[in-house]
Amino acid sequence: MEWIVETDKLSKAYNGIKAVDQLNFKIKESEIFGFLGPNGAGKTTTILMILGLTEPTSGKVKVYGHDATREALKVKRVTGYLPENVGFYEDLTAKENLRYITRLNGIPDKKSLPKIDEILEEVGLSEVTDTEVGKFSKGMKQRLGMGAVFVKNPKFAILDEPTAGIDPEGVDQILKFIVKISREQNITILLSSHLLYQVQKICDRVGIITKGHMIAQGSMDEIGKEIIKKEETLLEIQVSKVTPNLINSIKEIEGVKNIEKSDNHFLVKCDRDLREKISKTIVENGSLPLQIKTQDYTLEEIYIKYFREG
Ligand SMILES: Nc1ncnc2c1ncn2[C@@H]1O[C@H](COP(=O)(O)OP(=O)(O)O)[C@@H](O)[C@H]1O
Ligand SMILES: [Mg+2]
Repeated sequence: MEWIVETDKLSKAYNGIKAVDQLNFKIKESEIFGFLGPNGAGKTTTILMILGLTEPTSGKVKVYGHDATREALKVKRVTGYLPENVGFYEDLTAKENLRYITRLNGIPDKKSLPKIDEILEEVGLSEVTDTEVGKFSKGMKQRLGMGAVFVKNPKFAILDEPTAGIDPEGVDQILKFIVKISREQNITILLSSHLLYQVQKICDRVGIITKGHMIAQGSMDEIGKEIIKKEETLLEIQVSKVTPNLINSIKEIEGVKNIEKSDNHFLVKCDRDLREKISKTIVENGSLPLQIKTQDYTLEEIYIKYFREG
């Protein structure tokens, strides 16, 4: 099976207002797909449709080839879901809550108990396994929610804002856990988030959604090329010594469109990859190229770009 999720003009309106509008995207087996966009973009609504928990107004979504609306049970059997606001039994301990879930899912204690301990450790809750969840902070509940998803051995996990409400160290731990468990157990992940900087680094591909529309999808690299017009290359250059002559000589190279300088470091926009030519010019001007690299576009830049234009 190639596509785990496949939507076809998926749309949802609440009282005539479009929350999700003709959304098309696909998630590949085994990948971590970042479903990214600001608050109110339509991420949770999309997730609820994938899970068959709410019906599309029009369009379709398939999960493992099953119609998510009509065959919700089949989807549920293989899918783990971390909702935005996780709920637990407050008077039960962390361990008891997970055991309740595994029993509900028909997993025998002999099999589940060692796994519960292991997962609680991995999400950073090993010291509070026997503490009542009522005493947990939001972040701790969120981590326990992650545990609750993976203790059921899903093939596909949908995590809605899994890092919201977690302190920065906790975020790293959670993201590492997601990568580890998805690679080790070959679990496909849909990770929804409005925190781009945080999550993009662990995603194999991302889809960017705003106002119910998917405005770009692919690897960060692909999206970068799509946005920053193909004929444009950004070079980040560091030299031993910057002189006005050097700057002028670079400006005069055919194909250089723009140059921005700060200290011994500058950014050159050109219509093609001019690294060789520029290196030569630097040397000819009595300086040395310390570093010349094509600039990576971070998701944040991509994101800002879309918002500014859209
Ligand atoms: N049950 C609902 N009734 C009415 N409007 C809703 C409901 N759920 C979501 N919306 C609206 O749909 C839009 C998308 O919301 P949501 O899917 O929760 O976005 P996100 O998860 O990206 O923050 C928002 O404008 C929100 O106010
Ligand atoms: Mg949401």
